[in-house]
Amino acid sequence: MTVIVTGGAGFIGSNFIFYILKKHPDYRIICLDKLTYAGNLSTLKYVMDLPNFRFVKADICDREAVDKLFGEEKPDMVVNFAAESHVDRSIEDPEVFLRTNVIGTSVLMDACRKYGIIRYHQVSTDEVYGDLLLDRPEMFFTETTPIHTSSPYSASKASADLLVLAYHRTYGLPVTISRCSNNYGPYHFPEKLIPLMIANALNDKPLPVYGKGENVRDWLYVEDHCKAIDLIIHKGTVGEVYNIGGHNEMRNIDIVKLICRELNKPESLITYVTDRKGHDMRYAIDPTKIHNELGWLPETKFADGIKKTIDWYLNNRDWWEEIINGEYRNYYEKMYANR
Ligand code: NAD
Ligand code: DAU
Repeated sequence: MTVIVTGGAGFIGSNFIFYILKKHPDYRIICLDKLTYAGNLSTLKYVMDLPNFRFVKADICDREAVDKLFGEEKPDMVVNFAAESHVDRSIEDPEVFLRTNVIGTSVLMDACRKYGIIRYHQVSTDEVYGDLLLDRPEMFFTETTPIHTSSPYSASKASADLLVLAYHRTYGLPVTISRCSNNYGPYHFPEKLIPLMIANALNDKPLPVYGKGENVRDWLYVEDHCKAIDLIIHKGTVGEVYNIGGHNEMRNIDIVKLICRELNKPESLITYVTDRKGHDMRYAIDPTKIHNELGWLPETKFADGIKKTIDWYLNNRDWWEEIINGEYRNYYEKMYANR
């Protein structure tokens, strides 16, 4: 089995590559990644020299490059993680989100049509459903919840989902889509809540909480997401959407306080800053379908996962310090200096 994994130098894609190479050591894995600010080749250093792994630096929007790779490798499956993934950046500059997340998805699927494929899997997000109210805890996102997006990021991901379903219906492309809740774990880029708070706390810097910190996210350890995708691409039904989430809702402020406690840092580092525009209030996934149809259940409890994650950031300072001391400094300054 030859699998092209796009966006494999990023957070979830790299964790997926590690998982799949371990679970299916006979598979050939090709990572296709543009190495944007969010992609990091050093993340893949442990697999780079494996005989059944190949890294290709290319843009998923580049038809010629994608066509060439498909011609060379004739993949059986494509798992598309490549995306612009940060909501705050999409609010600053939406265009690149449309290009990569929508056009890039269509370029990949056109190559799948041309060369033939047994599965194209689109890694999507629970953000396509918009948000839920804090005072309606009985409500959850199911696969039939209407698409109702809030940010340019989520709108681009929803557009891609619609395109994927259209390629299935129109051309019979064998697709699946997964919509997962917030992930956390190793190699999470430090612009996102959990790694940003860990890095700032370790550097005794302010911990910028948007608004009142009451927004709720449904956190899942990244390996549980990878396991779910592995199940979907092998056993999921073509044309179907699967929600992935572990019923682990937490308020942002509680996560930040927990990180302070774990690192023995004072809560006085917490600074309330101007809220995100259009900030989604609550995400909560109903994972009944993937549980009933594919037997998936999350395995890592948040209490264990967050400890493992914090330990990883403590033991891999080089990885994130190199990032925060580079171009990221300008980003941080722009987004947080006068917030
Ligand atoms: P990330 O930002 O950490 O990584 C994205 C990767 O894609 C990077 O390696 C980057 O270089 C690559 N990339 C970006 N544009 C590209 C292009 N044009 N061509 C080729 N490669 C390109 O993202 P992530 O957090 O790992 O998210 C991966 C996927 O999972 C995304 O599709 C995202 O929407 C989805 N998702 C993320 C979460 C989460 O909590 N992080 C939850 C649900 C779904
Ligand atoms: O739900 C899945 C989505 O989760 C993915 O599709 C996205 O790619 C991923 O980035 C993530 O989106 P969020 O916007 O939920 O994640 P983020 O880490 O950016 O923010 C989590 C919450 O923390 C959100 O309510 C905003 C808040 N926040 C974030 C940052 C970066 C802060 O309060 N302060 C911060 O500095």
